[in-house]
This record gives sequence, C-alpha cells and structure tokens, in this order.
Amino acid sequence: MSPLLAAAGPSAYWYLSRGTGVVAQVLLTASVVLGVLGSMRFTAAPRWPRFTIDALHRDVSLLVLAVLAVHIVTSVVDSFAPIKLIDAVVPLVSTYRPLWMGLGALAFDLVLALVITSLVRRRLGYRAWRAVHWLAYASWPVAVLHGLGTGSDVKAWWMLLVTVACVAAVLIAVGARLARTQGEFRAPGAALLVLTPVGLAIFTFLGPLQHGWARRAGTPSSLLPRRIVSARAVVPARVGPDTLKAPFTASLIGTMTQTQVAGGAIVNLALRVGGGARGLLRIRLGGAPDAAGGVSMTGSQVDLIAGGLTSVAQGRVVTLNGQRLVARVRDASGSVLNLQASLNIDQNTGAVTGTLSGSNVGGGAR
Ligand code: HEM
Repeated sequence: MSPLLAAAGPSAYWYLSRGTGVVAQVLLTASVVLGVLGSMRFTAAPRWPRFTIDALHRDVSLLVLAVLAVHIVTSVVDSFAPIKLIDAVVPLVSTYRPLWMGLGALAFDLVLALVITSLVRRRLGYRAWRAVHWLAYASWPVAVLHGLGTGSDVKAWWMLLVTVACVAAVLIAVGARLARTQGEFRAPGAALLVLTPVGLAIFTFLGPLQHGWARRAGTPSSLLPRRIVSARAVVPARVGPDTLKAPFTASLIGTMTQTQVAGGAIVNLALRVGGGARGLLRIRLGGAPDAAGGVSMTGSQVDLIAGGLTSVAQGRVVTLNGQRLVARVRDASGSVLNLQASLNIDQNTGAVTGTLSGSNVGGGAR
C-alpha cells in the first residue's frame, strides 16, 4: 500500500464508532426485550426465573452505557466529522447532521436517565421510577432513527438485516405483552405495532437509501465528496516565462491535503514546479479500503500547467509505488508527457518536497 494513500485511509476511530453503534443498538434492543419480558412475569423455562431475566436486563442496560461511551468518544476523536462532546448530550446543537445526531443525543440522555433512576430506585420510589422507565423506553425508536439517519452502513445488507431483526424482536415482545393486556392501551398499542415498521420502512426507502441522503441529512458541504476540478478552472493559463522542453528535471514544493469521503478518501497534492521547468502540478488520488485491509487507488487526476504549454496538460497516475509515482499527461495538441515524481511527504504537516522529471512520449497536433 502506498504511504500516500495510507495517510488517506479511514481512521480506526471511524470503524470503532460504526462498530460500537451497531453493538449499542443490538444491546439496547436486548435490554428493551428483556424489560418487556420481565414486566410480563415471563418465564421461558424453569431455569429462567424472573429474577434471572431482571438481572440480565439490568446488566445488559449497564453494558449499553459502556458501549455508548466508546461510541461517543470515538465519534468525537475521529477527525472526519466536527462532532463535539456536547453534541452527545444536547440535542440539535451539532453542526454535523444536526437532526440525526440530535436523536442520538436524545437516545443517550434517555438511556442515562434509565440507568441512573434504576440505580437509585429505592430512594426514588416505585411510581416515579416506573414513569421514567416507560419514558426511557422511547430511547429505542429514537436510537434506531439516529442509526438509520446518520449511519455509514445503512445501505449494507447486513446492517439492514440487523435493523430489521432489532425492530422485529421489539415488535414481537411488545405484541406478546399487549396480548396479555386488557383495557385502554390495547387498541393504540396495536396501531403502533403496525405503524412503526411501516413508517420505518417508508422512511428508510425514501431517505437514507436514496442517492444524495448525506447532503439532505445535513452533512456540511466541506465534507461532501466533490467532483474533481481541473486545474484549468483554478490557475491562470500561463504561470512562468520559461518554456517547457522535455526531457526536463525540476523541483517540487507544495502541500498535501486529504478529504475523507463516504467509502474512502481523496488525497490532493498541490505542487509548484521550479528549476528545469516552471508551472503548477496538481495530483488527486482517490483511495478506498480494499479486501486485504489496506487502501488501494480507485482513481486519479493529474493537471500540469507550465510555461511553454499552450493548455493544461491532463492525465492520470499510471503507477504508484510508495512516494514515487508515474503519470501520463496529454496537452490540447495531443503531445503526451511522461512525468515521474519522487516525493517526500511530512505526514504531520502535509508539506511536500520532491523532484519531477518529464519526457516526451509522443503524439502531436491532431
Ligand atoms: C442510545 C444511543 C445510541 C445508539 C443506540 C447509537 C447507535 C448507532 C448506530 C446503530 C449507528 C449506525 C452505525 C453504522 O451505520 O455502522 C450510529 C452511528 C453514529 N452515531 Fe450513534 N448511537 C447512539 C448515540 C450516539 C450519540 C450520543 C452520538 C454522539 C456523539 C453518536 C454518534 C454517532 C455517529 C457520529 C455515527 C455515524 C458513524 C458512521 O459513520 O456510521 N451516537 N449510532
């Protein structure tokens, strides 16, 4: 794997944030199901008396909190999205997908209320505890909406399967509970049982599964994948008095920046060419995680504007080996140049120095 692209790969925090999000959702589902079963005085078998279910319910709920702590910390520490600790507890203040992150914060506050009131249950009194407890069950649908609205894996078949399984588990448990209930809650409860999966399915198909959801969900435009812009649009047509005559050897100095996008990252090298040739060289590399656990190049664009060339020469990277790369660019007259760049990149500051040699490959006026 090229160190150039290694620098651009998604961070481990991002993977951890996604993984713990999924685990938190599964555990929260288990906690809700166990809570409902406990309230039914449910015993699946003589070996599973009610106090076992209650103990499991309590332990799983505590585990939810522990996993959520990791989920939140990794989301904040990951440098991709501007998420602050306050976004995890105060709904709607996040600059990143405010509504969907806000639902995450609300779900977290409710889980916190659930756990804290249960720990001080004796002092609180049964009625107050029970009121908070029922309210706190609302954390589950709110968390599911948060996961659907902001999760990167929402389109993956396994994530859809996990979500469907979680929704089915809660609906079955609540359905069983309702079946044993008499009175006024039965009809609205049954309506909710039908409307919840239908509503979630419609929302998922019309929202997160559609193209352009990231923008609609409130992702800041600076984090959205951008179309690769050609140097023609950003640099003047002529930048130096010298004429570019191949073969040449020149020096490079400039910067490297990287932007993480859904499914990978874009490395952007903006370099000034000096010495044996003068001009600007812009290289963009797209990288995505590969099956072997590394990062591989998925695309590239190279733009060279130099004195002596009548237009921007454009092309792509043909070989990438460590911090060396070979690119082929063609100008408007059809002349093809082979460019070999050897780069030294400071991974901390993004400063780049190096050398560039160019040779004519052929072509000419078309
Ligand atoms: C009960 C509370 C919560 C649950 C159950 C939960 C669960 C989830 C789930 C299932 C996902 C989707 C993961 C994926 O698609 O792979 C997710 C994504 C995410 N959550 Fe939460 N979450 C909760 C609260 C929070 C809070 C309070 C924050 C605030 C920092 C947060 C930050 C995020 C972020 C940034 C993502 C997007 C990660 C990605 O790119 O997939 N979550 N969460």
